[in-house]
Amino acid sequence: MTRTVETKPYDDQKPGTSGLRKKVPVFQQENYAENFIQSIFDALDGFAGKDLVIGGDGRYFNREVIQIAIRMAAANGFGRVIVGKGGILSTPAASHLIRKRKAFGGIILSASHNPGGPHEDFGIKYNADNGGPAPEKLTDAIFARTKTISRYRIADFDPVDIDTIATTSAGGMAVEVVDPVADYAELMESLFDFDAIRRMFAGGFRMRFDAMHAVTGPYAKEILEHRLGAPDGTSRNYHPLPDFGGHHPDPNLVHAKHLYDEMMGPDAPDFGAASDGDGDRNLVIGKGIFITPSDSLAMLAANAHLAPGYKAGLKGIARSMPTSGAADRVAEKMGVGMYETPTGWKFFGNLLDAGMATICGEESAGTGSDHVREKDGLWAVLLWLNILAVRGESAKDIVTKHWATYGRNYYSRHDYEEVESERANALVGVLRAKLKSLPGTRVRGMTIAAADDFAYHDPVDGSVSEHQGIRILFEGGSRVVLRLSGTGTSGATLRLYVERYEPDPDRHDIDTQEALADLIGAADDIAGIRSHTGRDAPSVIT
Ligand code: G1P
Ligand code: ZN
Repeated sequence: MTRTVETKPYDDQKPGTSGLRKKVPVFQQENYAENFIQSIFDALDGFAGKDLVIGGDGRYFNREVIQIAIRMAAANGFGRVIVGKGGILSTPAASHLIRKRKAFGGIILSASHNPGGPHEDFGIKYNADNGGPAPEKLTDAIFARTKTISRYRIADFDPVDIDTIATTSAGGMAVEVVDPVADYAELMESLFDFDAIRRMFAGGFRMRFDAMHAVTGPYAKEILEHRLGAPDGTSRNYHPLPDFGGHHPDPNLVHAKHLYDEMMGPDAPDFGAASDGDGDRNLVIGKGIFITPSDSLAMLAANAHLAPGYKAGLKGIARSMPTSGAADRVAEKMGVGMYETPTGWKFFGNLLDAGMATICGEESAGTGSDHVREKDGLWAVLLWLNILAVRGESAKDIVTKHWATYGRNYYSRHDYEEVESERANALVGVLRAKLKSLPGTRVRGMTIAAADDFAYHDPVDGSVSEHQGIRILFEGGSRVVLRLSGTGTSGATLRLYVERYEPDPDRHDIDTQEALADLIGAADDIAGIRSHTGRDAPSVIT
């Protein structure tokens, strides 16, 4: 039986960079999840009888919302839902499944790298038929709908068994529960030289993969250990837990410090990696050397042709605006297009669909390619392994040779978390107002060459996205960028991105914060970060 339930709008359902993210108790309010899911369906057209992929990163409240989404999909007229067993689908695996099965779209339940648990974060996002996050036009329509919604449709049937691989029927709709790993593993096998990687492991290569008790555990176990023959124990923390073991499933130098310490220690394995809550981010660390995500993008792009899936070369490279310019130098040398997009993976979708870019990346530990329409943590790790296997050199050698060829972009991000929204907005407002007067002024011995509020003109659909971050460019190519996060769930997060280019190989082993000290000081002089936020230091430095 299908019911139409009367409801009242909530006024806080604006999707951010990656869907709607809120604390679990917010999602547990009456009709809160239902309102948002119905708003998604109401913003879409023509899905009657079509397939919808549903899965999540396994965090607390995942199973409950999956049952709601299944019942609402039935009531709204979908023909079939394809659900990952146990409610599990990593974000890139969901993207692949949507594409492979030519589904109408997918609902992904995740709050990415944010903590999980009864008082932590939850999220709902919609991906379109290309497998990528809903474009801005659609998220705007969803948001508009949340403000006027007055009813939703839901079918009444008992909770569906999502723990058995089978196809059943409920409320007149097919419910297909699938192995969340199999299709994805097959895709990886089609892109990378598994034989070469297998030989490398057989030859004694040692690696550590930390799944951080999040969604990539089962994927890493299957691919690294079962298919590639890495020794048992290569994957750590591989049981997905609803609260990620109480940790932040964020693969950065703060939350994966144990991995970093191990990789810098005397008994370090050859390669270390980690992925986040929903499996789209990656951290890669060579023995004795941390590889920044911006550098990793450049190095993967420069070597991608060594993997079978990319042997024809790249069509182009894209990076988010705050990501360092290291990849630009690779694109220039290759003679392929380079695209600078706003923060958020959805902006890469058009470039990938149009065949203008093959590899994309963000400074926030996201790298991916046209194989799916999301960033992909394990994909990045496997491409590194493929490159290491073919080149037969250490990660450290590959990195230092890359810097010697292209120069090094020293790079760091400083986050000021949970700043009062008014204070953060005031900082941005004041800075915006003085942008025009900045060029030509000198700060700490450096001259400002240009300053603007980044606006993106999508070369494919002509759409314009304004106010995507403030860029201050210095003579000589150094740069600071400031923007407010679109994914935080409490207060505002100010992000400061700092970058300095150093061509001289004799100056490639300076401590990063030291190399960037003048620029960090200049950013504070210009933007008044300390005075506006009332903070002496960032909450997180990556
Ligand atoms: C952050 C990252 C951004 C990434 C997004 C989703 O967004 O900075 O690169 O795409 O998470 O993983 P932000 O909080 O900065 O808006
Ligand atoms: Zn993520």
